[in-house]
Amino acid sequence: MAESENHVTEAVAKKAQALRRALHHHNYAYYVLNEPEISDAEYDRLMRELIALEEAYPELITPDSPTHRIGAPPLDRFEAVSHTVPMLSLENAFFEKEVLEFDQRVRRFLETDDPVAYTAEPKVDGLAVEIVYEKGLLMQASTRGDGFKGELITPNIKTINSVPLYLMDSGKVAVPARLEVRGEVFMPLEAFKRLNKERLKQGEPAFANPRNAAAGSLRQLDSRITAQRPLDMFCYGVGVMSDLSPSSHWEILGILKELGLPVNPQIRPRCRIEEVLEYYNMLSERRHAFTYEMDGIVIKVDDLSLQRRLGEKSRSPRWALAYKFPAVQETTRILGIEIQVGRTGALTPVAHLAPVLVGGVTVSRATLHNEDEIKRKDIRIGDTVLIQRAGDVIPEVVKVIETARTGDEKVFRFPAVCPACHSRVRRLEGESVWRCVNAVCSAQLKARIRHFASKGAFDIDGLGGKLVDQLVDRGLVRSYADLFYLDKATLAGLDRMAEKSAQNLVEAISKSKNISLDRFIYGLGIRHVGEHLAHVLARAFGSLEAFMAASEDELIAIDEVGPQVAQSIRAFFETPENTANIEKMLQAGVRIAETPGVGLSESKRTLEGEAFVLTGALESMTRSEAKARIEALGGKVTGSVSPRTTYVVAGKEPGSKLARARQLGVPVLTEQELLERLS
Ligand code: IVH
Repeated sequence: MAESENHVTEAVAKKAQALRRALHHHNYAYYVLNEPEISDAEYDRLMRELIALEEAYPELITPDSPTHRIGAPPLDRFEAVSHTVPMLSLENAFFEKEVLEFDQRVRRFLETDDPVAYTAEPKVDGLAVEIVYEKGLLMQASTRGDGFKGELITPNIKTINSVPLYLMDSGKVAVPARLEVRGEVFMPLEAFKRLNKERLKQGEPAFANPRNAAAGSLRQLDSRITAQRPLDMFCYGVGVMSDLSPSSHWEILGILKELGLPVNPQIRPRCRIEEVLEYYNMLSERRHAFTYEMDGIVIKVDDLSLQRRLGEKSRSPRWALAYKFPAVQETTRILGIEIQVGRTGALTPVAHLAPVLVGGVTVSRATLHNEDEIKRKDIRIGDTVLIQRAGDVIPEVVKVIETARTGDEKVFRFPAVCPACHSRVRRLEGESVWRCVNAVCSAQLKARIRHFASKGAFDIDGLGGKLVDQLVDRGLVRSYADLFYLDKATLAGLDRMAEKSAQNLVEAISKSKNISLDRFIYGLGIRHVGEHLAHVLARAFGSLEAFMAASEDELIAIDEVGPQVAQSIRAFFETPENTANIEKMLQAGVRIAETPGVGLSESKRTLEGEAFVLTGALESMTRSEAKARIEALGGKVTGSVSPRTTYVVAGKEPGSKLARARQLGVPVLTEQELLERLS
């Protein structure tokens, strides 16, 4: 690098050092502890100041400067590096039986009948890397490669915000002269979805899963691209660690944490094999609640001297085992493609699949999203495809297995008319969906009524899809308001309806007439107004009259309501059929209960400004009751724990939110304590 023209004074050097320290500290607080101390803007300001200083005085640049996080000039190729200690792989288990056999094998090998202590960790689905710190400074980072040799990716690793560029000296453990730390680099799910959306928009192929996205992002010759990708990392082990001599794996993890390295907060330390199985079940159930993808757990013998005795065989250690979750991706065949019409008229292509078991659930349909998606993935009827299921979301097609094509596959032609009412479909500028714009299309009406009767809305028990079809097809129901005018005799005359079930349905409809404002609003099916927004609107306006009378400006003034939503709400109420329907419902006796929290006198809003997160099962009430009661006193209930959470309420078998609360230092209440606050 050319000598700079400017002369570095002591004051300038000190300033740079102070900026680096501050940035390092705030980075750790934000990305590792999740407890930001300054605003993003303030952080950016500090960063820009340091960049400016380093540009003016290049000799100030140190290997641990946070400016490295923005990436370095591209390389021609990756250099190969050897790992001092080979990076082993893991043996896989898929069934409980195999885990118990592993435990027996371990005890047989150690010649003991006593239970062995295991530490169990989430198996995060990303790619393994090794980072070398010398005298606390991040000197080198590499991929696992073949376990012996990997690729040198130091500048890329430096872009990961949770990875410290130098180790923290907390005073509790001495910073080792050399530390080779290992862990998994991954891409959080939200970031993955965002990245794919962006790529599709740019006409680039989407990544099949977060693991591919993480690998593709990390292995970039141009680390400035890596810097644009929100990667994260959890450390789970070490190669060489000088100076320190821990005696257990759990102790190693503690040391890593102490040095400022990111360690997964979900780890279950030192437990018996039975508890490991429980931990697996717990995580397996909750895996979709996490912000990253895990594909199983890793079980490790905790005691390091036992690990050494056990050793390894064929490149995987005898002391560890990966216990995988059931696959959430499977291959199957597309039998046909059907077009579904939604309540807003959107046409969604849905694939009928040869039924296949995916993660314990039989899947026979998958959404194909829209026409462009079918074209981009070149999905044809008869294709063998890879499908995936994540949580409760509708399964989707990841890609076509082209090598399985026989030539008999048929290209799907998107219809020009609505499959239900046969009116021409339209696709607006800039939209990816085709819509049926016929206001009296029966398919739209059916979808609107199904939505109206759904759990989050009027919650009408017994009003299933088949029944809705009959009611609409026979002209008995032309709007959701008509539901309240159905009588038992009419219902009993329908197919597969007995006297008793007709009676039950009449009662269910009648019961639904008493409804809270948020559910009422949600039930109307206004475009862009989902469950959450309906709740926000109900709280903001307090009454149906006030909501219906709100102008676009008044709507936009509400937090979370943008121009698009405001327009959609106004358009809804300016359509005479909609207001007539509402009038008809009120006439039938639909009554809107007072919205919790709104209009309460100050003295009753005892939980004003407090944000609660509920986790685990409560004994004296359901979670939704607890939510309603908290809100009735002016408090808020949110889904995830953040530094802004006031309390986490832990019921029976609390989930990851409890751990997160502990990590963030958020106070935890028992059910009893919550009840006291509510009374
Ligand atoms: S320990 C000898 N712990 O799984 C021990 N691996 O299938 C080697 N992985 O290459 C790894 N989370 O990429 C370990 N908590 C964890 C892990 C983990 C994810 C990955 C890692 C490894 C692969 C083995």
